[in-house]
Amino acid sequence: MTHRAVIVGTGHYTPDGILTNADLERIVDTSDEWIVSRTGIRERRIRANGEATSDFVVSAAREALEKSGKQPADLEAIIVGTVTPDYRLPSTACVVQQKLDAPKAAVLDIAAACAGFIYGLALGKALVEAGMYRTILVAGAEALTSITNYEDRNTCVLFGDGCGCAIVARSENGDRDRGILAAHISGDGRLGDLLNMPIGGSKVPLTPENYHERGHLLHMDGREVFKHAVREMADSCLQSLAQAGLSVEDIDLIIPHQANIRIIDALAKKLHADRDKVFVNIQRYGNTSSASVPIALNEAMRMGIIKPGMRVLMTAFGGGFAWGSAIVRF
Ligand code: COA
Repeated sequence: MTHRAVIVGTGHYTPDGILTNADLERIVDTSDEWIVSRTGIRERRIRANGEATSDFVVSAAREALEKSGKQPADLEAIIVGTVTPDYRLPSTACVVQQKLDAPKAAVLDIAAACAGFIYGLALGKALVEAGMYRTILVAGAEALTSITNYEDRNTCVLFGDGCGCAIVARSENGDRDRGILAAHISGDGRLGDLLNMPIGGSKVPLTPENYHERGHLLHMDGREVFKHAVREMADSCLQSLAQAGLSVEDIDLIIPHQANIRIIDALAKKLHADRDKVFVNIQRYGNTSSASVPIALNEAMRMGIIKPGMRVLMTAFGGGFAWGSAIVRF
């Protein structure tokens, strides 16, 4: 028997520190006008010294658990989408398990960059539907400012820190209309060089000699990434819509990855979606990679924008390339 996977609670956390465009004007050769007109970003959150990705997850998870009426001990799996883990070993999910005190949970990090939360949601859906688990924490969390190159104006104006999460659980009332209706994930490893960190892995370890190259920090060919992001997110959304037997008119809210306001606008246009149905908070957070969709999801929840019965389409695209989408009825 196939079970139904539902989202029973969401949460998010962003650190208190704020880096404004005016602050960045003092760090690199840029301007508030350039950043706002090219990206839509006005400020982003930055972590305090010593604050790690796992700390973000724990704060966000506490909110999601409370809203879902679950305890940490109920969690059977913890899935964390992140490219900024606390350590290379153990996984951030392991650290979260210990800090939350969720002793039963299986622990897994997903390295799908900005698509990490959508990948986690797709996996969580599959695990619940297969009957393997009843309650899973899926988080997207990034301390992106820890891998941002503040000497590179092409990228440093874009990124911020934070976490969003969802509790994915088996539906107990057999309601076939609600829950995660569809999920689609895909990728293209041939384009990995367009958005990467070439130094610091097993192929080219970080050494005192290559440190100055800054290859252990994020590098991106923004213009190329832009084109692929719009195309693949639109295609993925159509695949999820087809899977669910829905059209874009049936969707009440679209939550796209918050990477660039122009990408969001182009995506809405390509999908022929009503722009008023597209949730945007990029002006306050910048691009928080895997955290961006679930932060937006929980903000929309807190603001009362998402009401029972609404269908929400989420989509993300990022380094790898990896991308995906999901449709959830609340
Ligand atoms: N301030 C001022 N000027 C800047 C700048 C900054 N922060 N960053 C770049 N520029 C300059 C460039 O040097 C370039 O100058 P040049 O023409 O003299 O060489 C000019 O602005 C235009 O650069 P370009 O790269 O063409 O700008 P763009 O319109 O493509 O916008 C991005 C750049 C990065 C904002 C945009 O490409 C983008 O958002 N891409 C997707 C990024 C993304 O979302 N990645 C995450 C994964 S989804």
